[in-house]
Amino acid sequence: MLRRALRICPRLSNGFGSFFASSTHSSRPFSAPSEVQNSSPPIHHSEDPNQPTETLQSTSKISIDRSGLYNPPEHSHEPCPDSELVKHLKGIIKFRGGPISVAEYMEEVLTNPKAGFYINRDVFGAQGDFITSPEVSQMFGEMIGVWVMCLWEQMGQPDKVNLVELGPGRGTLMADLLRGASKFEKFTKSLNIHMVECSPALQKLQYSALKCADEDTTSDDGGQRTVTKLAGATVSWHATLEQVPTGLPTIIIGHEFYDALPVHQFQRASRGWCEKMVDVAENSQFRFVLSPQPTPATLYLMERCKWAATEDSAKLDHIEVCPKAMELTHEIANRISSDGGGALIIDYGLNGIVSASLQAIRKHKFVEILDDPGTADLSAYVDFAAIRHSAEEASDDVSVHGPMTQSQFLGSLGINFRVEALLQNCTDEQAESLRTGYWQLVGDGEAPFWEGPDQKTPIGMGTRYLVMAIVNKKQGVPAPFE
Ligand SMILES: C[S@@+](CC[C@H](N)C(=O)[O-])C[C@H]1O[C@@H](n2cnc3c(N)ncnc32)[C@H](O)[C@@H]1O
Repeated sequence: MLRRALRICPRLSNGFGSFFASSTHSSRPFSAPSEVQNSSPPIHHSEDPNQPTETLQSTSKISIDRSGLYNPPEHSHEPCPDSELVKHLKGIIKFRGGPISVAEYMEEVLTNPKAGFYINRDVFGAQGDFITSPEVSQMFGEMIGVWVMCLWEQMGQPDKVNLVELGPGRGTLMADLLRGASKFEKFTKSLNIHMVECSPALQKLQYSALKCADEDTTSDDGGQRTVTKLAGATVSWHATLEQVPTGLPTIIIGHEFYDALPVHQFQRASRGWCEKMVDVAENSQFRFVLSPQPTPATLYLMERCKWAATEDSAKLDHIEVCPKAMELTHEIANRISSDGGGALIIDYGLNGIVSASLQAIRKHKFVEILDDPGTADLSAYVDFAAIRHSAEEASDDVSVHGPMTQSQFLGSLGINFRVEALLQNCTDEQAESLRTGYWQLVGDGEAPFWEGPDQKTPIGMGTRYLVMAIVNKKQGVPAPFE
């Protein structure tokens, strides 16, 4: 996700018609470095993780007699009362009689059904906390649409296909994909759309982004179905991928979904690898501590290190492991193996073991991970090498392709042709937005957009984001990984 408020390009002309036929094998316009640098900020914790972190605020109170003063509440210096989520987290720690893993903390903070960060509100865009590629430009969803249609072609144009999106946010990517594909009726008619989304608030936004309507079915049970007016396809919502019906060829898209899955953090100590945990200090603030002995999650660390070259893990003092990413990848690979189709995973990450990358973002700024949980997004770099291993371990019937950079991926699918086509028929203001969006999606350092205190760090997403495909081997090699 991008940390700055960005101008959003208004959606331009529907459908990419002849563009689709001519663009999929175009040359890519940008070269990309072989490795994405971890540019997340350092996590500030004390040297001894058993001590309260340096960043914690003191809550000691000075007693002053204010009885004669008028003290309006907005100027109160009393510490804020704990939010429902903070009370809940403290309750878990108290009930367990000890700290919880960073993974459990992250999962509660993001998706607690009552007060999780994603659950009750729209967190995207200039007014929210961060911005993602589909919100930057319509071209992103359109290019994913090109990929999906290419795969559908390779699958032999099945009459019915499950199109699944994991964590669709505002629904913008799917809406742009469907608008772009609207002229390809055989394709749009084949779609059963499945949105895997845990947030009721975001489900509502997705419903309206897809211009959905509920229709009575002709079945005896008098049931209803939801249909998107963008494509005439049915849409349904599920809390997990497991709940999406099996038995049809399936295409899965996961954009910035894996980075929200909870990670365990490990730190090398004199007594060996210890898990970083979240505890409540005597001053009632959250703090990091290290487990005194190996935790059950250490098994995942061992598993992950088995896949890495010894030299890679030997030089690290911190390692992150995401068991949920491994489980999800197993599920994706097994589903694709039995039903046919493929998955596209796009996220920021590394093609290798990830060190300490967990970060918190509130209102487009990095904040402390333990500060006011539930009011900031938490995300971690995605370990694409672990995804590859998990998929290959799950099934011999699937092949894994990439990762390649977002810049390579979008360039090879023809985003430069698409931007040129859109620029033919737009206002000056729209043209500026289109160019801005284009560079934000593919730029890697030459982009004219800057962040940081000195505004000198380029923020193009073209190389920071990686793209990987997992497909049933029957489908051959997917575009543009040939
Ligand atoms: C970082 S946002 C990305 C949104 C969208 N893909 C985009 O790029 O704009 C993560 C999305 O995944 C959803 N999500 C996060 N964890 C989830 C989980 N465990 N199960 C289902 N949805 C989840 C969030 O509600 C949100 O829609």
